[in-house]
Amino acid sequence: MTNSRKFPNEFLWGGAIAANQAEGGWDEDGKGVSIADVVRGGIISGKADKVIDPNKYYASHEAIDFYHRYKEDIALFKEMGFSLFRTSINWTRIFPNGDEEEPNEAGLQFYDNLFDELIKNGMEPMVTISHYETPLHLVDQYGGWENRKLIDFFSRYCEVIFNRYKDKVKYWMTFNEVNNMHKIPFAAGACRIEEGPDKLQRVYQASHHLLVANAMAVKLGKEIMPENEVGCMLSLSAFYPHTCHPDDVFGAYEFRRRSLFFSDVMLRGKYPSYTNRIFKEYNIHIVKEKYDDELLKDNTCSFLAFSYYLTSTYKSGTPIFESTGGSMGYENPYLEVSDFGWPIDPKGLRYVCNELYDRYEKPLFVVENGLGAKDVIAEDGKIHDNYRIEYIKKHLIQLHEAIEDGCEVLGYTYWGPIDIVSAGTGQMQKRYGFIYVDKDDEGNGTLDRMRKDSFYWYKKIIESNGELL
Ligand code: BG6
Repeated sequence: MTNSRKFPNEFLWGGAIAANQAEGGWDEDGKGVSIADVVRGGIISGKADKVIDPNKYYASHEAIDFYHRYKEDIALFKEMGFSLFRTSINWTRIFPNGDEEEPNEAGLQFYDNLFDELIKNGMEPMVTISHYETPLHLVDQYGGWENRKLIDFFSRYCEVIFNRYKDKVKYWMTFNEVNNMHKIPFAAGACRIEEGPDKLQRVYQASHHLLVANAMAVKLGKEIMPENEVGCMLSLSAFYPHTCHPDDVFGAYEFRRRSLFFSDVMLRGKYPSYTNRIFKEYNIHIVKEKYDDELLKDNTCSFLAFSYYLTSTYKSGTPIFESTGGSMGYENPYLEVSDFGWPIDPKGLRYVCNELYDRYEKPLFVVENGLGAKDVIAEDGKIHDNYRIEYIKKHLIQLHEAIEDGCEVLGYTYWGPIDIVSAGTGQMQKRYGFIYVDKDDEGNGTLDRMRKDSFYWYKKIIESNGELL
C-alpha cells in the first residue's frame, strides 16, 4: 500500500468545454446555425425551434463570449498549470451549412489562433470534432445522421481540420457522448426521432452511420497525421443493479450494453454478438454498404475518452430517466446528491475505469467530470466552493486508485473549468467552474471573470502532480 497520490509523470491535467456552451459569436465571421443555436433550455432538453425566433433568448448565442475573451481565459488556465485543454471545433464555423465544397477560412483562422494561444501558454489542445454542434441545415435538408450522406460531409470536415491542425493538435475525439443516441438523438445524432414503434430501428441505423463516420475519421487520421491519436468519446457514468435480485443484476448489465455497444464497435471493430438477439427481437435491419464491416474492422480508435459524473441504479420495471451526466434510475440510499439531483459517487469512477480497461485494454482519458452547483458570492465578495473541492478531491483519489489497479489513464480534464452554459438546462446558474463568470440565466451580467477557492486548490494539485490530494 502506498500513501502517495502522485500521478504518472506524463499524466495530463486540464479542463474541458464545448464550443457551443462557451464561445458565443454564434453568427460571426461566416458561422452557420448549429443545432445548439436553435435550442432554449439546453441542447439536451430537445426544445428546439425550427428557426431562430428573434424575440426569444438563446443562451448559446453569446454564452460566455469565449470567442472574444479566450486569451484572458487561457491566461487563467495557465495560472492553474493546465497541460492540456479540451474544446470542440464548432462544425458550423468551418462548414456553415455542412454540405459546402469549400470551408470557411475565417472559422479555420479562429481555431488557428485559439490553438496557437494554448500552445504558447504551455497547453496541448485536445479537440472534440462534433459536440452537439451539427449544422442545422443537415437536419432540415437531409434528416441528420439518419442519412448516410452525412458520412461524406463529416469526412470532408475531418479532412480539412486534420490537414489544417495536424501539427497543433495531437488528441482528437470524434463524437461527444455518441452513446447518447439512445436518449437524446437530436443532440447526439442531429435526428428528430420521436417515440414510436420504429424508434429503435431509426436510432440504430443513424448510429451505424456515426460508427462508419468514426472509422472514416480514424482512417483519415492515420493517413493525414499518423503521429496523432483519434479516440472515441462516450458518456459512461456507471449503472449498478439496485438489489441483488437477478432481474436487477442482469437488467443493469443489459442496460449498460446499450452504451458499451458503441465503444465495442469503435474499439474492437465489429458489432458485438449480443446485438444479434437485440436486432432480431426488435426487428431491426441495418442497411450497410459492402465495405462498412471491413472499414470498421481496420479503423478502431486508439483511446477511449469518457465523461463520468454519477452513478445510478437499475431496478427491474422502474422507468429510467436520462440526464446529461448519465441515466437516472432508482435512487441509491448510500449516495448524496448535488444541488441538481445528481448522485455523487467517487468510487464509481474507479469502478468504471476498471470495467473499461478490463474490457478493452486501451488507454482511457477522463475528459469530463465535475460538480454543477449553485455558487453564492459571500460577503467578502468571494466564492468559497469547498463542496467542489471535496467532490474533485474524492474523485481524483479514486482515479489514482484505478491507476494503481493497473488502468492506463492518460489524463483528466475537469468539466467546465470556467462557468459555461449548461447543456442540460441552458442555465448559467448550474456552475462547474474554478472561474466564476458574471452572467445570469436571463443573460444579464458583466461577463467578468473571478477566481473561486477551487481555482487555487486545483493549481496546487496540478503543481504537485496529485501528491497534495
Ligand atoms: C456532458 C456533456 O454530458 O455533460 C456536456 O458532454 C455537459 O456538454 C455536461 O455540459 C454536464 O451537463 P450539464 O447538463 O450539467 O451541462
